[in-house]
Amino acid sequence: MGFFIPKKTVESLPHSESYWGVVAKNFNRPQGFINLENGYFSHQPIATLDYHGEAESRINTQSSFFMRSEQSKAIEDARNIFAGFQGWDVEEVAFTRNTTESLNTIIMGTHWQLGDEVIIGDQDYGSMVEAFQQAAARWGIVIKVAQISLYPASDQDIIQAYVQQITARTKMLHVTHMINLNGHLIPVQAIVREAKQKQPNLWVVVDAAHSLAHMPMNLSELSNAGADIIGGSLHKWLCNPIGVGFLYVKRSLIREIWPLMGDIGMEKDNIRKYEHQGTRPINSLQTISKAIAFHQLLGATSKYNRLLYLKLLWIGNKVALETFGKSLGIFSDPEYQQNMNAVHDLSNFDNFKLQSPLFPFSRGGAIATAAIDGYTPTELSSILMTKFTIFTVGINHPIVRGVRVTPHLSNAAADCIALNQALTILCKDLIPHNESIPTKK
Ligand SMILES: Cc1ncc(COP(=O)(O)O)c(C=O)c1O
Repeated sequence: MGFFIPKKTVESLPHSESYWGVVAKNFNRPQGFINLENGYFSHQPIATLDYHGEAESRINTQSSFFMRSEQSKAIEDARNIFAGFQGWDVEEVAFTRNTTESLNTIIMGTHWQLGDEVIIGDQDYGSMVEAFQQAAARWGIVIKVAQISLYPASDQDIIQAYVQQITARTKMLHVTHMINLNGHLIPVQAIVREAKQKQPNLWVVVDAAHSLAHMPMNLSELSNAGADIIGGSLHKWLCNPIGVGFLYVKRSLIREIWPLMGDIGMEKDNIRKYEHQGTRPINSLQTISKAIAFHQLLGATSKYNRLLYLKLLWIGNKVALETFGKSLGIFSDPEYQQNMNAVHDLSNFDNFKLQSPLFPFSRGGAIATAAIDGYTPTELSSILMTKFTIFTVGINHPIVRGVRVTPHLSNAAADCIALNQALTILCKDLIPHNESIPTKK
């Protein structure tokens, strides 16, 4: 079975439920609740899932004949397709299981010297922070932390947070392209350029788990700007089956970084040395072509605009909705107006605290996080689920605290309107807490 994608017309504009409603039918939706927590991983379109299953069935039938005679070609085909998709040289791309493995390969495989410095961000993903902490305990590297503003006045705020920490001892600068806690998109290209001007020898490592196939860009834009190493997961916004990550390493650095799994057979400068993983589900690599086809049928910009629209809808910010609608020439469209009128501007409530930058729109995509004073993140996500059957996730981080909301292509505008209305009720505090929910403080 193929994908359901209506012909692209003006109908594919982000507010058209007749277009996006058909796109949503590509996915199985959960019964009994609205899933607005699609940041962990993306579910796959049914056709992608079927393709994956059929590929698995073929491998299962041919058994080790496939592994011994066709596996290498399947991996190389997938590498060619994925590298081409992102605009990379095929000799610079390895497949891993996920972002965690990609970046651990780099952090654990670097020849660290005692006192080498690394700069990380204060909202980096926990697994990478722990990997650097382990490297500090093991090799005596020094971790410096850039403080990232939640609402930067300009890119310079963020760039300087990183660049001012650079010294002659800085070996690595690790930057998260899109912060998982609140969806904040960090201006990596500008950071790389300024960082390299100050210290040309440092390596810039990018965690692109959430930006791949989410922001309307190729990640080769980051490497072209000077990023040396990039890791990401294909099971997030590319909607590939779970368990495929990528690792881009600039060709001249491959020789210098050890693989995580011992490999002395491969030449030191061969990117494939990072793929010594043992027996693994090759059908997940074979499915990459299908996942890319779905993404390309939608179009990166249309997909991004739809996700952004869903975010703006649940937040209800009228200035944002007006700016967005006008920028696409759809503001006066009756369907746009109707949905805009159905939501409350949550920023009008003093107790509503958005934890994500909203303007300019290029600072994010689908993901945003918000708190309501008096509720812990866990209480808020719990009450949204128990009272309103809306699933989100509570983020309890020293800097970002709130419920993280991540709509997907499988969501309707009505899902985000329902969340907006639930949050409106909670902001007005009309719901008495029941016994199963901890008392509001
Ligand atoms: C910024 C960021 N980095 C890394 C990861 C880890 O991804 P994975 O579990 O696929 O390794 C995530 C997961 O959400 C993430 O958001």
